[in-house]
Amino acid sequence: MDFLYEKILRPLFFRQSAEAAHDNIIKLLRVFDAFPPLVRLFERHNLRPPHTEPVELFGLRFPNRVGLAAGFDKHAQVWTTFGALGFGHVEIGTFTLHKQDGNPKPRVFRHPEYEAVVNSYGFPNPGAEIVARRLAHAPGKETRRYPLGINIGKSKVTPLEQAADDYLGSFRRLADYADFIVINVSSPNTPGLRELQTRSHLVQLLAALQRANKERAVRRADPAPLPVLLKIAPDLTPAQLDEILEIADATGIAGIVATNTTIERPSGLRGLETAGGLSGRPLLEKSLGVVRYLARAAGGKFPIIGCGGICAVEDAGRFMDEGASLVQIYTGMIFRGPFFAAKIARSLAWHQRKWV
Ligand SMILES: Cc1cc2nc3c(=O)[nH]c(=O)nc-3n(C[C@H](O)[C@H](O)[C@H](O)COP(=O)(O)O)c2cc1C
Repeated sequence: MDFLYEKILRPLFFRQSAEAAHDNIIKLLRVFDAFPPLVRLFERHNLRPPHTEPVELFGLRFPNRVGLAAGFDKHAQVWTTFGALGFGHVEIGTFTLHKQDGNPKPRVFRHPEYEAVVNSYGFPNPGAEIVARRLAHAPGKETRRYPLGINIGKSKVTPLEQAADDYLGSFRRLADYADFIVINVSSPNTPGLRELQTRSHLVQLLAALQRANKERAVRRADPAPLPVLLKIAPDLTPAQLDEILEIADATGIAGIVATNTTIERPSGLRGLETAGGLSGRPLLEKSLGVVRYLARAAGGKFPIIGCGGICAVEDAGRFMDEGASLVQIYTGMIFRGPFFAAKIARSLAWHQRKWV
């Protein structure tokens, strides 16, 4: 399979621009999705590799430890196919309250020499209302074989001071379809978004969301509110990470996704000057550093989903060794192929006894 991808499919995809290749892959996955028995067959083979223990986390059951990071399925169109590729959870979005087109193209650049991508998408998405209608027609929570995370962000047109209302609007419209919610305050391509990681903004935002979350649970007589996770940037200082942990604790956040893309450019790497978030191999050590810091500072209190630069099977194991409970991938799949998650899940299954 690796051979087929690396020698035939990848060169074909890489002849197209990164965004065109992505759009074509979405089209292929939609065709695949039209054959449910085939999807089930692949799921049976890939979702629970031999020796895999499902992971119980946030009150959810994850069939394996590898998930799809946000940003791949920006329109909630193909997430149902990812179990077949071996993903034990999928995070879709980022979605915003208002429909938006994102930044002008070109806005995604591959750098195969570094196994890296720079993107400045800016959350193109159909808006929470359309996404909710789409999800209402998709398999419901009871029939899903793996958890679905919904990632929400701020609409570009909404001023920072009104961010909480914007997120609340998306939360209210999408919560019914999610197994967990991820609050994105860390993408570099929406002006001001990352400022929401500062104390005053973050307290206001998370407190408002958790209030709505608890009220919803009471209204529906749910046993517990939805798990709400926070996705953070890799460029935060230890002092900022401490602050985030304190706020996450005070507001009842269930876990942290660490990390999003970086705005920094590692010295010595040339050609990465285009504006946007850098992902892939050059991000790995930075994201690992954040997970290491959080795991130690929080003393295991917050489950962490490690994400950033996993381009080899062993990279995922390093995140687990640093204290992550689950991992997510995106850029690595572009370079390693569609079954990279299945390969990681299989490898982690052999080592998993030491991780909680
Ligand atoms: C093309 C692209 C688009 C992305 N879009 C989003 C997004 O909409 N929301 C989000 O939270 N993260 C987004 N991300 C960040 C990824 O979810 C992930 O955090 C980051 O890329 C690091 O993981 P990786 O090195 O495995 O790609 C995007 C990443 C890429 C490469």
